[in-house]
Amino acid sequence: MRLLLLGRGKTGSLVAAIAAERKHRLVIAGAKENASRAALTPERLRDIDAVIDFTAPHCVLDNIGACVEAGKDMVVGTTGWHQHLDHVRNLVEQHGTGFVYSSNFSFGVNLFLDAARAAAAALRHDYSGQIFERHHAQKKDAPSGTAIVLQQVIREASGQNEELEIISFREGDVVGLHEVVLESPADRIYLCHDAKSRRGFAEGAVRAAEWLAGKKGFYDFKDVWREL
Ligand SMILES: NC(=O)c1ccc[n+]([C@@H]2O[C@H](COP(=O)([O-])OP(=O)(O)OC[C@H]3O[C@@H](n4cnc5c(N)ncnc54)[C@H](OP(=O)(O)O)[C@@H]3O)[C@@H](O)[C@H]2O)c1
Repeated sequence: MRLLLLGRGKTGSLVAAIAAERKHRLVIAGAKENASRAALTPERLRDIDAVIDFTAPHCVLDNIGACVEAGKDMVVGTTGWHQHLDHVRNLVEQHGTGFVYSSNFSFGVNLFLDAARAAAAALRHDYSGQIFERHHAQKKDAPSGTAIVLQQVIREASGQNEELEIISFREGDVVGLHEVVLESPADRIYLCHDAKSRRGFAEGAVRAAEWLAGKKGFYDFKDVWREL
């Protein structure tokens, strides 16, 4: 595939490496090349099959607008914009493109979400709980997008209205650690996912772009990763 990668930061640079391993042709644009969306003109996008975005919350909505309006498929890993999901879903449906998004493209975290769903039954049996998340000090958003998704899947699976509190830590170079602790008067349940590197995120995003080829619609990676 011919892929345009937006962002050559910590995760984007790994996406580039994995796209190359999987024999895709890649164009990369960082903040400088994409100032005022310069990399996203219809002309520059003409030969691109899909755009992968690992940039920052301040620019991701502009990037999405330009790519979707140009009729391009997108995989968006950038976090901090999900309060605008409905707007983006409408835009994608209006333009008939394909779109996959996730706060976490790693298969491991998506398996972890399944474990959290199963454990959520505890909240109907005298347990209370908290979510802890730790990331590197440069991370721009808090709580993490993954922690917010964890909170949402646990609330839905428990059938309770109450949301678990999220406690965020920003320190050192932690790639991404998420814990769910459920506590009753008798015992504690600990669930933990600890990312060892960013490779899992990058691989999931490239495979999502491959999966999207020939499809239209607005997809959450947690609903489609099993098909990859
Ligand atoms: N969904 C997932 O699985 C997943 C996994 C990891 C991270 N993330 C999210 O992905 C995003 C990036 O994370 P990261 O750790 O890679 O951050 P990072 O190292 O800070 O990289 C962000 C990159 O975006 C570039 N950038 C900023 N504005 C841009 C623009 N308008 N156009 C193109 N590039 C632009 C920056 O370029 P310069 O260096 O030139 O300024 C920088 O290289 C964050 O929102 C993070 O939360 C998601």
